[in-house]
Amino acid sequence: MMKKMSLAVVGLAFSGAAMAQCSADIHATDQMTWDKPTINVPADCKEFTVKLHHDGKLPKATMGHGWVLTKTADMAGVSSAGMAAGAANNHVPQGDARVIAFIPLVSGGETHEVTFDTSKLEKGGEYSYFCPFPGHFAVMKGKLTFG
Ligand code: CO
Repeated sequence: MMKKMSLAVVGLAFSGAAMAQCSADIHATDQMTWDKPTINVPADCKEFTVKLHHDGKLPKATMGHGWVLTKTADMAGVSSAGMAAGAANNHVPQGDARVIAFIPLVSGGETHEVTFDTSKLEKGGEYSYFCPFPGHFAVMKGKLTFG
């Protein structure tokens, strides 16, 4: 599976040098992990799509995974506000301008995606993403760069 995907990506790069990859896939597990420590959003992308695949079997009540993008400086504050917002809000603070984009919690076997406008990002800015499920913040996170 991984080999096949790598070949597809290489093929794409050779066949369409001018076309940027404006999406990223993240695969999460029942072991509270995911496979993407970094994401780069190419400067050419007007929009960017993140797809979160929960490859496990557990329901979101016990092992849900979501994806929240903020400036790195805002991450801890948004995580705390998300705890206060509770499960009914996917542990994401509603209407919070610090949240650049988010994917609601998914259960094992589910995939959910979000597409956001890259005009929300500054070149050279420091962005981070994390899973808002309680207790996951410490290990399920990553850095996002633009440009
Ligand atoms: Co998680």
